[in-house]
Amino acid sequence: MPPPPPSSSGRPSALSRRSFVTGTASLATVAWLSGCRSPGSQAPAPRFSAYPFSLGVASGEPSSDGMVIWTRLAPEPLVPGGGLPPEPIPVRWEVAEDEAMQRIVRSGEALARPEWGHSVHVEPAGLRPDRWYWYRFTAGDARSPIGRTRTTPAPSAQPARLRFSFASCQHYETGHYTALEHLAREDNDLIVHLGDYIYEGAARDNQVRRHNSAEILTLDDYRARYALYKLDPALQAAHAAAPWLATWDDHEVDNNYANDIPQDDVPREVFMQRRAEAYQAFYEMMPLRAAARPRGPDLLLYRRVHYGRLASFHVLDTRQYRTDQPCGDGNKRPCGDEMNPAATLLGAAQRDWLFEGLERSPAAWNVLAQQVMMARVDRLAGPDLAVSMDQWPGYEFERRRVLRHFLDRKIANPVVLTGDIHTNWANELVADFDGLDGRSVAVEFVGTSISSGGDGVAEPRNLDALLAENPFVKFHNAERGYVRCEITPERWTTDYRTVPYVTRPGAPVATRATFTVESGQPSLTRTG
Ligand SMILES: [Fe+2]
Repeated sequence: MPPPPPSSSGRPSALSRRSFVTGTASLATVAWLSGCRSPGSQAPAPRFSAYPFSLGVASGEPSSDGMVIWTRLAPEPLVPGGGLPPEPIPVRWEVAEDEAMQRIVRSGEALARPEWGHSVHVEPAGLRPDRWYWYRFTAGDARSPIGRTRTTPAPSAQPARLRFSFASCQHYETGHYTALEHLAREDNDLIVHLGDYIYEGAARDNQVRRHNSAEILTLDDYRARYALYKLDPALQAAHAAAPWLATWDDHEVDNNYANDIPQDDVPREVFMQRRAEAYQAFYEMMPLRAAARPRGPDLLLYRRVHYGRLASFHVLDTRQYRTDQPCGDGNKRPCGDEMNPAATLLGAAQRDWLFEGLERSPAAWNVLAQQVMMARVDRLAGPDLAVSMDQWPGYEFERRRVLRHFLDRKIANPVVLTGDIHTNWANELVADFDGLDGRSVAVEFVGTSISSGGDGVAEPRNLDALLAENPFVKFHNAERGYVRCEITPERWTTDYRTVPYVTRPGAPVATRATFTVESGQPSLTRTG
């Protein structure tokens, strides 16, 4: 059994609290004193105006011999520069085999560089497969909270099970992160985040909580917005509990943007500059490998993580390379252009990468961790048809291509995980709705939001009509929460974990529905 999550989740320890430098709190108190140093002496320890690990720690991108461990120094996280001078700051890191950090197996020093927002991304390697590790950082005499992380099983291993949860859409203003508090306490080997980690909008009145600024447009804006979100103890606890695999959706940059096309009417070069700064802040704030370091407005986010021969996660990016919605935005009858072979959510390179990786995958279960709903849900009762043009049905040609690939190449147990729409769904994915065999070739679990949308409802108003219109939809619910999954070689089990309210703190969590999928049978059985 894995050990419990770290007790220090997201909160500075008593020891590190003592290391605060309080008082005048001016930037000048971050004294490098390099000018005062006598020749040959050690560099003086940095002193901070306040606790520099205010944003907690995180880990991600697990492999069988390592992962990324992350922190960002920010004694004043909501101000430009984070309350630090524009100089590199040495940060010591340690990885241990025990929660008390007694058996340290890897350690070293990294530089928190101002050009990367004083973030630190370390990739310790040479660790043992399939076990828990703990990590922490030290800068000057300040020490970070301890995070817990885990390596994946060896590539050839046949693990008995994998437990993970996935989540998305955590609008700060519309609710508390109660669902993340519960998620952090789950027995997760991994946490998958499917995007809308932040929202870019301006502060609004009369919300549960308040954004820190007008709409965010610049690197400093994005950094401060991430910092606001990351100051939440529940989010820090979820990061400290297990390694993450994070991808993005639209709000990490701009609502419903498509590649280089913004929502607002601004010149392309203006938007691409904004995208570059938003992507940089995403990299700085997430436990991503150096391979994902952005170059201008480009950041390579699609990648794979393998859990031995049990499961492979194909993490997708359906924002950066997509063509504009072929039939425009909104819910409407397809216009014909959704069958244009040039319209794409993935872009050709990512699609080739996905198809090739699926064919070569050694895994019993192939998980697509991605953003927008793949099932073609008809939103209108009766013979009329209305589908969401921002989701896969707006790109119907490519949607069918993916499902056909599952079928024709006999891909082992494809399971699609989805965020984006702030509601829970369990869908069987039918290859073709309009005349072919109508066979289910995969299943899709759509997870609701952590907080976006505020308090939800267990049974949406149109539920009966929607289920009657779309028989491949086996479950739909509009509460807030997250989705917990367990994979064994024979069976996949999904629990929809929901909280009844988020506009005030303290909601309990419950399992609203449970579905199982038997290996080799792409259909859903409700078991709870
Ligand atoms: Fe969202």
